[in-house]
Amino acid sequence: IDIKKFTTFHVSAICRFFTEIFTLEELNEALNFSVNNKLPVLFIGGGSNILFTNKTFNGLVIKVNLKGIQETLGNHNNQVFVSGMAGENWDSFVSYCINKNYGGLENLSLIPGNVGTSPIQNIGAYGVEMKDSFYQLKALNLTTREIEIFSFDDCNFGYRESFFKNEGRNNYVILEVTFQLTTKKHKLKLSYGDIMDELNKDKISEPSLKEIRNQIIATRKRKLPDPEVLGNAGSFFKNPIIPIYQLIKIRENYPNIPFYTISNDFVKLPAAWLIEKTGWKGKKIGNVGVHEKQPLVLVNLGTATGKEIFSLSNSIIEDVNKIFNIQLEREVNIIL
Ligand code: EPU
Repeated sequence: IDIKKFTTFHVSAICRFFTEIFTLEELNEALNFSVNNKLPVLFIGGGSNILFTNKTFNGLVIKVNLKGIQETLGNHNNQVFVSGMAGENWDSFVSYCINKNYGGLENLSLIPGNVGTSPIQNIGAYGVEMKDSFYQLKALNLTTREIEIFSFDDCNFGYRESFFKNEGRNNYVILEVTFQLTTKKHKLKLSYGDIMDELNKDKISEPSLKEIRNQIIATRKRKLPDPEVLGNAGSFFKNPIIPIYQLIKIRENYPNIPFYTISNDFVKLPAAWLIEKTGWKGKKIGNVGVHEKQPLVLVNLGTATGKEIFSLSNSIIEDVNKIFNIQLEREVNIIL
C-alpha cells in the first residue's frame, strides 16, 4: 500500500504491510504479527509530522484509529478532565472542548494531527503548548504489552520535545490523553502578536473561547498552506535556542534580528527569519519549495519524493549554518 494519502506531505512510499487498528485487541494482534514476522513497526496518527525519505518501507505501518472522548468533573468547580482516544483528530477534539466552553486548548486550534500524537512533540502555537493543559496519558509498553500511565512529570516535556521523542521512542504507543481544562475562569493567553492584532482589528476586548478559536483559525489559514492543497508538515524546523553571547555577536551584523527571551542565558530565534535571510523564502526547486508566507514550512508542489524534500532541508540547514553559525534542527519525524 502507498502511504501517500495517510500523510500530509503526500509523498509516495510503498509499505510492505499496513493496517488500521480501532481497538486495543486489534493493536495487540498487529503487534503479534510484527513480532512473528520480525518486522519493524511504525505508528502513524494524522500523518502530519512525518516524512518517508525512501520509496519503500519494509515493515508494518499501524495507523492508530482508537476513537472516543470522555469527561469527568474535577474536584474544584473550575476544573474538568477531558480524555481523547489517540485516533481522535486534534482539531475536532479542540472544537468539542470549545463548544462546551472548556478553556485551555483554544490557541491550539487547527493544528493538524491527532490527540495521540500531540504529546510526542508537545505541539504548540500562539504562546501555548499542549503541556500547559496536559494531565496524564495512557500508553502501551510494546515490550511488556502493559498499559502504563504517564503523569506530567513522566513525560519530560520541552519545546517540541518529550520522553516519547527520546528515551521512549519505539517502545510506546500512546492510547489516550487526558487534559485538565477550565470551566469558567479561563486563563487566556492573548499576548502573541498575531492574535492581539486580529482581536483589536475586530474591536473585541474580552474575547470568548470561540472568538479566540476563530481568530486563530483565520490567522493560520492566512499564513499556513492547507495540506490538502499543498502537501506539507507544518514547521519543518524547530526555532533554534542559542546563548545570548551568540545573539550579541549576530546583532553586530543584523541589529534587527527578532528573538524571544527564554532564560537569563538563552534566547529563541525564529527559524523563519533566519531562512528568509538566506534567500530561500518562496524558492522552488523542481517539485519542492519553501512556502512564500512562512519559510519554516517546506511544501510538496505536486509529485515530490521524500528525498527531494529532505535534500532541500539539507541545503537550508547548510546555508543558515554558513551565515549565522546556527545548526537548525528538523522538527518533522524523518523515516530513513
Ligand atoms: N518571520 C520571518 N519571515 C516570515 C515569517 C516569519 O522573518 O516569512 C519571523 C518574524 O520575525 C515572526 C517570527 O518569524 O515574528 C515568528 O513567526 P510566526 O509567528 O509565524 O511563528 P513561528 O515561530 O515561525 C511557531 C511554530 C508554529 C506555530 C507558530 C505560531 C515552531 C517550530 N513553529 O512558528 O508551529 O503555528 O509559532 O505560534 O515553533 C508547527 O509546529 O507545525 C507550527 C506551524
